[in-house]
Amino acid sequence: MKPVGIVLLGCGTVGRAVVGLLRRNADIIAQKAGARLKLCAVADRSLKPDAALGLGREVIFRSGEPLAALPEADIVVELFGGIEPARTLILSALGAGKDVVTANKALLAEHGGEIFAAAAAAQCAVGFEAAVAGGVPIIRTLREALAADRLSTVYGIVNGTCNSILTMMSRQGSDFARALSEAKRLKLAEADPTLDIEGHDAAQKLCLLAALAFGTPLTPAQVYTEGITRLTPADIAYARELGYAIKLLAISKRDGAALEARVHPTMVPLGHLLANVDGAFNAIYVEGPALGPTMYFGQGAGALPTATAVVADIMELARQRAGAARSRPQPLGLPLEALRRPRLKAMGDVVCEYYLRFMVQDRPGVLGAIASVLGRHRISIASVIQQGRDREGSVPVIMRTHEARERDLKQALGAIGRLRMVGAPPAFVRIEEKLGS
Ligand SMILES: NC(=O)c1ccc[n+]([C@@H]2O[C@H](COP(=O)([O-])OP(=O)(O)OC[C@H]3O[C@@H](n4cnc5c(N)ncnc54)[C@H](OP(=O)(O)O)[C@@H]3O)[C@@H](O)[C@H]2O)c1
Repeated sequence: MKPVGIVLLGCGTVGRAVVGLLRRNADIIAQKAGARLKLCAVADRSLKPDAALGLGREVIFRSGEPLAALPEADIVVELFGGIEPARTLILSALGAGKDVVTANKALLAEHGGEIFAAAAAAQCAVGFEAAVAGGVPIIRTLREALAADRLSTVYGIVNGTCNSILTMMSRQGSDFARALSEAKRLKLAEADPTLDIEGHDAAQKLCLLAALAFGTPLTPAQVYTEGITRLTPADIAYARELGYAIKLLAISKRDGAALEARVHPTMVPLGHLLANVDGAFNAIYVEGPALGPTMYFGQGAGALPTATAVVADIMELARQRAGAARSRPQPLGLPLEALRRPRLKAMGDVVCEYYLRFMVQDRPGVLGAIASVLGRHRISIASVIQQGRDREGSVPVIMRTHEARERDLKQALGAIGRLRMVGAPPAFVRIEEKLGS
């Protein structure tokens, strides 16, 4: 089958990650997309040939103009950023019958109407999963998975720079200026952070979220926008005393026939999931009368998370280009013949940390006896708590282990359970310390 031709406009932070992912995962991408993808040309004014990325001199161009309508291209991927020439190039690509993928929220928030109309006229598609919340697949979720409900509310932490600054102010008590300079040092804020800290980036993303959730095209000028620059560490501390975290939220809600669209610092109850989304992470909370509350969480930016969204859009469009039969969704994402039997890891080989509880007689040497059985089975103890006696005269001993193999733990617990000074069978709970790290 003829490969699907890709043109890439912009090979910076995200573009390089896209090229790397297309190369590294070429086999599974081809299986899942139902066609091989071929990178025909890359436009970037500062890109040098790069053997590791498979970018030879022959595919590199300095400008996008000759590439937007390149005959061998099927999909044009715009990662220049900014308004021009991105807008003009996308319109020419659509005019030439190419599908388009872009991560450019600034462009879509301002000129989405024009671009989507040009796509409809040309019967072409525009993928923009990467334009909101990088690696969090919120666009496809709103467009497809939640399509059956009349959604009522979308709240999002959609700017990682602001969320990192607020997290620093909250954890370290630093003032805004200090947290901002720390964020710059850690490359969590750009040299000119105005768009982020004044809330404009979040407002651009809210325009796309509201359009998808409520079918209401918005422009950033219609969104009430207030940034985080006036917040003080005292505000954050007082809010916490009252039981709230302060987050920059992008909020859109239906109120009868009216729509709210606003971005501003907001007090969120500490028990709400959004209050615990810290640092550069993004989360979007969506609610509808049928759906109830749902939340989507992940890395809102960064080269590879954003590239996964760009490449997923490319694959979806490639699947459609590869033909009607192939464009039907594969139930498990891969063609059935590509599915493989799993090689399951035996539960005995699983390694994790454990919480252990023993009910023991309160006499000398008990702890030592338990520790020595654990040691013989290669299990080391991270901490021990010994509590007071219960009514039957036995004492609970609580231990937390370092990482251990389940088979060793079960054998050790069997041996400990047979010790005379140990009462009820030992209890254990597995600890997933590395969840989310
Ligand atoms: N970075 C992220 O984590 C992230 C996350 C979500 C979405 N996005 C979006 O993804 C897009 C790309 O972001 P990025 O971070 O990859 O930007 P970037 O690192 O600045 O990459 C853009 C590349 O395109 C080149 N370029 C720009 N305009 C050009 C032109 N007219 N002609 C030739 N080359 C041109 C730039 O060259 P110079 O360096 O010489 O200017 C640069 O190499 C933006 O729309 C951004 O909002 C980024």
